[in-house]
Amino acid sequence: MGGRLLCLLLMGTLCPRAWADPSFAIDYDRNCFKKDGTCFRYISGSVHYFRIPAAYWRDRLLKMYMTGLNAIQVYVPWNYHEPQPGLYAFQGDRDLERFLDLTSELGLLVIIRPGPYICSEWDMGGLPAWLLNKKDIALRSSDPDYLNAVDSWMSVLLPKLRPRLYNNGGNIISVQVENEYGSFPACDYDYMRHLHKIFRLYLGDEVVLFTTDGNTHNELKCGTLQGIHATVDFGPADNATKSFELLRRFQPTGPLVNSEYYTGWLDYWGQNHSSSSAQLVSRGLQDILEMGASVNMYMFEGGTNFGYWNGADFKKKYLPITTSYDYDAPLTEAGDPTEKLLAIRAVISKFLSVPLGPFPPPSPKYDYGVVKLQKVGNLADFLDIFSPGCPTVTQYPITFEDAKQYFGFMLYRTRLPWDTPDITSLTDPFNGVHDRAYVTIDGSFAGVLERDHIRTINVTGSAGEWLDVLVENMGRINFGSYLSDFKGLVSNLTLAGDLLKDWVVYPLNIDGPVAEGWPHGGENNILRGPKIESNTGPTFYMGTFQTAARGDTFLKLTNWRKGQVWINGFNVGRYWPARGPQVTLYVPGSILSTKDYNNVTVLELESAPSGFRAFLIDRPILNGTSQAV
Ligand SMILES: *[C@@H]1O[C@H](CO)[C@@H](O)[C@H](O)[C@H]1NC(C)=O
Ligand SMILES: *[C@@H]1O[C@H](CO)[C@@H](O)[C@H](O)[C@H]1NC(C)=O
Ligand SMILES: *[C@@H]1O[C@H](CO)[C@@H](O)[C@H](O)[C@H]1NC(C)=O
Ligand SMILES: *[C@@H]1O[C@H](CO)[C@@H](O)[C@H](O)[C@H]1NC(C)=O
Ligand SMILES: *[C@@H]1O[C@H](CO)[C@@H](O)[C@H](O)[C@H]1NC(C)=O
Ligand SMILES: *[C@@H]1O[C@H](CO)[C@@H](O)[C@H](O)[C@H]1NC(C)=O
Repeated sequence: MGGRLLCLLLMGTLCPRAWADPSFAIDYDRNCFKKDGTCFRYISGSVHYFRIPAAYWRDRLLKMYMTGLNAIQVYVPWNYHEPQPGLYAFQGDRDLERFLDLTSELGLLVIIRPGPYICSEWDMGGLPAWLLNKKDIALRSSDPDYLNAVDSWMSVLLPKLRPRLYNNGGNIISVQVENEYGSFPACDYDYMRHLHKIFRLYLGDEVVLFTTDGNTHNELKCGTLQGIHATVDFGPADNATKSFELLRRFQPTGPLVNSEYYTGWLDYWGQNHSSSSAQLVSRGLQDILEMGASVNMYMFEGGTNFGYWNGADFKKKYLPITTSYDYDAPLTEAGDPTEKLLAIRAVISKFLSVPLGPFPPPSPKYDYGVVKLQKVGNLADFLDIFSPGCPTVTQYPITFEDAKQYFGFMLYRTRLPWDTPDITSLTDPFNGVHDRAYVTIDGSFAGVLERDHIRTINVTGSAGEWLDVLVENMGRINFGSYLSDFKGLVSNLTLAGDLLKDWVVYPLNIDGPVAEGWPHGGENNILRGPKIESNTGPTFYMGTFQTAARGDTFLKLTNWRKGQVWINGFNVGRYWPARGPQVTLYVPGSILSTKDYNNVTVLELESAPSGFRAFLIDRPILNGTSQAV
């Protein structure tokens, strides 16, 4: 204020630029962004704080700065921050404001994408699964129940962003409204208008708001809105001239922006690893920059879908996304520079001055050797630990959402209604196993049912024996029409054609006890259940390793089938080398200890190899052979 007053007194002639209020806007006459009064374009990269341990945020951002980027682009996943309605999480790895502080300290501008829907190959595209408590909710539309939940979340999130907007002295230059809404069949303009209104309410009239859509007429038609700057997304294989010509039909003037220029692509379990050449990506980037456009590279650093956070696509069948979100991006999942990064940096240096000085080297990777595991016991032996409350007794199965358990695993238990000495089919007639079920009879593993793949298995047993169906939620669909992706047994199972009834359903909180030290904390937990000799069916294993040096490593579970793994209580993610293509899991050094034993807990769902050995190696393997079923 004082500076401004002085400016007025000196009639502006002696007023240094720094004294002017910072401003960021769109110049529709000169087709550029206008930053502090001059034409500006950004060269940005996407990085997701929710896919990187907080300890490494600064490292990744510094490397992006050193590449020559002047901005980063980031999504905010609603479901990560509001796990239950009205309950908010912004600490540790969820500390969005700390992440934004780091971008500012490093002199990077921020393009923020607060959703409410983000896609991002993230569970349910970032929407909280608790929205499905209302079964017929119309997501991403003007359904009042959906809008009420959105409004209440935005009333918490957007006020945190407001002081960080460029015009308010911060480093956020623009804010995306929704995400690729034109790809969603609803095409509900009232919904987009509502979002526009609340973004303006909390962020003010000055801030640059934008939409992003695919490079087709229909996507731009339903995704753009009067008064919001339209941008497009396309990859190196697309014709940039043509994509921008199409954008011009919806955004006749103002800066041209590609909000998602694809540096690589995601992986699905059971499909080949995706990669794209450094040459193709850097050449396409040069084309865009030569046209004077602004660009964001998606992804610049992909990171990891730790825990249960991966999403899934639906293309004729359910396709879950791998734990790794390496994306073949310029920085690897572990934050190391690649040949692609250097090629991109060389292109950027033709347009902007790239910071001098040595590029930060790759961080050391460690081969900690073999971890010998031992069997703890079958999952069903620990129900009092994972499901201490009362189970739900129900005639027909309920969903995860009914039980208000949104992630992980639930156990459905009933008794065999009659003797089945001969082979009998246990069937999922309505394809309602969401998404994979591990069946045991009287403690013996009987097989797997899998959504869209395995609809029936043969079983035998005697009347009254326990039939256990452990159902795994493998990640909610994040794109397209099937966002209301309920989990668990969403329809009935049959035995020899008869409906199975009278279930006892156990919600399972495995992560809580494991984070608190189970089973390592209590040796007497080990093998205290009824001794089952075989190593098949859902079973826990544990092991430890020690190290004097702390750094990143990669867990390789050779000849194990499928499951979940925790290290020192941190959920490292799903492994499924039997399906591929991902073979190793990224283990960030930040979760390891040099003082204490490091504790490895494995939940193997199908069968463990003899010897129970795991390996910690010094390089990732993401391109193993894929085994589609
Ligand atoms: C790209 O599209 C433009 C405009 O539609 C066209 O003139 C040009 O030939 C295309 N380039 C290629 C390589 O197809
Ligand atoms: C996957 O890779 C294998 C081995 O390189 C190849 O034979 C196969 O055609 C690929 N599948 C697809 C769908 O591209
Ligand atoms: C079940 O058993 C029958 C009879 O032996 C056999 O024909 C069928 O292929 C088996 N089904 C499965 C899914 O294994
Ligand atoms: C199971 O079948 C019963 C009887 O037809 C039906 O009432 C119930 O809705 C079904 N349950 C599910 C989860 O489909
Ligand atoms: C591993 O478990 C042991 C036994 O509960 C515990 O004392 C130790 O602190 C744990 N290690 C780490 C790194 O958390
Ligand atoms: C996987 O990638 C590595 C390193 O790029 C390469 O050496 C190897 O041949 C690839 N393996 C397969 C199966 O494609």
